[in-house]
Amino acid sequence: MFVVLGASGNTGKVVAETLLSQKRNVRVVVRDAAKGQAWKEAGADVSIADVEDGAALKRAFSGAEGAYVLLPPNFSSTQVRVDNNRRASTIAAAIEAAGVPHVVMLSSIGAQQPHGTGPVLGLRDAEATFTRGRAAATFVRAAYLMENWGGALFAVAQGVLPTFLLADKAIPLVATRDVGTAAARLLAEGGSGKRVIELAGPREYSPRLFGKVTIRSGVGRLTSKRSSRHSSGNDVASRRRDPPMKPRHAAFAALDPFFELVQRGLSGLVDGDHYFDTIAENAIFEFRYDFPGWPQRIEGRDALMALYLGYGDNIVLHRAESLVVHRCDDGRVVVLEYDVHGRVVASGAAYDNRFVSILTVENRKIVRWRDYMDSLSAMRALSTKL
Ligand SMILES: NC(=O)c1ccc[n+]([C@@H]2O[C@H](COP(=O)([O-])OP(=O)(O)OC[C@H]3O[C@@H](n4cnc5c(N)ncnc54)[C@H](OP(=O)(O)O)[C@@H]3O)[C@@H](O)[C@H]2O)c1
Repeated sequence: MFVVLGASGNTGKVVAETLLSQKRNVRVVVRDAAKGQAWKEAGADVSIADVEDGAALKRAFSGAEGAYVLLPPNFSSTQVRVDNNRRASTIAAAIEAAGVPHVVMLSSIGAQQPHGTGPVLGLRDAEATFTRGRAAATFVRAAYLMENWGGALFAVAQGVLPTFLLADKAIPLVATRDVGTAAARLLAEGGSGKRVIELAGPREYSPRLFGKVTIRSGVGRLTSKRSSRHSSGNDVASRRRDPPMKPRHAAFAALDPFFELVQRGLSGLVDGDHYFDTIAENAIFEFRYDFPGWPQRIEGRDALMALYLGYGDNIVLHRAESLVVHRCDDGRVVVLEYDVHGRVVASGAAYDNRFVSILTVENRKIVRWRDYMDSLSAMRALSTKL
């Protein structure tokens, strides 16, 4: 019996399907029983477990001759490395307790590096955790997953490929199907000791080249873009990995027109000399738009600051204007309408956007912030022609 964690995800799905197609016994681990139904029909055993639940994981892993494990992305975390380490320890302890002899863990290229790799550090830590365990461990260090660009391809018809990567820097890529197929083979082969497998496609691609190939394949006329206020998931996660931080407002100067506009809009309703000082420590932020890699919800002022750190590397705002303030519920809820204007640092392109922000104020601090914007306008500005 092989146990597959993350079976509803990109790689786990392929691992489980591949093993099932080889008539092997498979148990998939899902969080939601509804997601297990199709697997049951396909002949798999189904176990319900969250990676935070060691007892449920131990049950899921029991009787396994091998297990495929990964660290599920955790975009709402404000302490990514800490949370990932706890999850890795919980999974590893369950593997140990269930006596699983071999684990194949999805890791990443760069996991050998001790610093400077952002979210990959969590995978480096996880490799170390599994290395200490009794089970044989095969670490699959996958290259940048091609599917990372999947969420951005909708923009191709508009002539953009949003990515935080450098437009002309070629990097190794791999498709999640290939990762899953390789992991299934490694599981079926069994393991001994600890070993590392690096996995990448046959050639490297820069985002620009990837874009051109995409055009040639008929997806649409394409341009590539660099980073933004809305940068990739990798970037957001890496910015969030470090505990942020005493307010170093100078680092956020590129957003000053926006900060000053908000202060004007909330005049008399909140305390604090700077925008970040008006935010409650545990405030909730909801970004009610879908932008590749940009979180839709974060919790806490520190997380917001981490998210905005480096904004000025990408965009510098020159003006924030056309402010309309609606005070509702005796000033407890405030709606701000406004425009921002600036420049994209990388290309010099104009950046113009309009926002509606709905704020809830308690005890003279902002406790909730809900943002709406014109994401197409942001995407256009942040694109560099191929
Ligand atoms: N992006 C890259 O370029 C890259 C490169 C190398 C390695 N990686 C690594 O690849 C991994 C992600 O692999 P993937 O793309 O196959 O995953 P994915 O498609 O993001 O799917 C994540 C899976 O984990 C499950 N999951 C989420 N939270 C869970 C929880 N709390 N408990 C139990 N299961 C949970 C999800 O189930 P639900 O359906 O219930 O949500 C889903 O099945 C990450 O560890 C990442 O670091 C990424």
